[in-house]
Amino acid sequence: MILGLFDSGLGGLTVLKEIINKCAYEKIIYLGDTKRLPYGEKSKEELLDIAKDNIDFLISKNVDEIVVACGTVSSNVLEDLKKIYDIKIIGIIDVLCKGAIKETKNNKIGVIATSSTISTHIFKDKLDNYEVYEMACPLFTPLIEKGMIDSKEMDEAIDSYLKPLKEKEIDTLIFGCTHYPLLKEKIKKYFDYPINLINAGEYILDELENKEIKNSLLEFYTSGNEKEFEENSKRFLDIDIDAMKKE
Ligand code: DGL
Repeated sequence: MILGLFDSGLGGLTVLKEIINKCAYEKIIYLGDTKRLPYGEKSKEELLDIAKDNIDFLISKNVDEIVVACGTVSSNVLEDLKKIYDIKIIGIIDVLCKGAIKETKNNKIGVIATSSTISTHIFKDKLDNYEVYEMACPLFTPLIEKGMIDSKEMDEAIDSYLKPLKEKEIDTLIFGCTHYPLLKEKIKKYFDYPINLINAGEYILDELENKEIKNSLLEFYTSGNEKEFEENSKRFLDIDIDAMKKE
């Protein structure tokens, strides 16, 4: 069995990182669509076209299942994609919701994600028995992709996006965008009380067919610059990778 994952860029590697060596696919193929990054401000129509192009590419590489390792595509067009394709397609929204339900004690859940994701209010709808506070964080992905995690710009962005959630005393925060787990340590520090951080990668194994531990072959593609992708991936994964070009 071959598993395919895709995201706008490097963010989906936070999902890949959690499943490497934990499931029995003979091969895992990752596609980072860096040429079209960011997805976070795109319309539903654009996202559907992009997702179809990425899925067609992964199918051409003979994948058996696909993980949409992107909150923006999962929240906007997952149901449309499931209607178009016969192949199993797994999104991250339900996975994140299940994680948050498991962890919250005070039923106050924060969601941070891209503007396109937040505009769907999908988390509020799915978690309708909980107090859900949503916040679009448009500056996070570009700063993360540029490697500016430890910067004044990032600290200011964290303060302005997370202050309202801290004031609501949420005990659980959903990373609705797969780039955001890279901010885990900073965000933990920002909340001066213990908070559960919900990362799709940590909860997605339940959705995958096979959970035996095995070393899968890994293959990486990017629509952007291969060398940049390889270099930047080091911030997300502990292994050196070779990236191939998706034309
Ligand atoms: N990592 C993506 C997500 O989960 C997309 C971020 C972006 O490209 O704006 O939403």
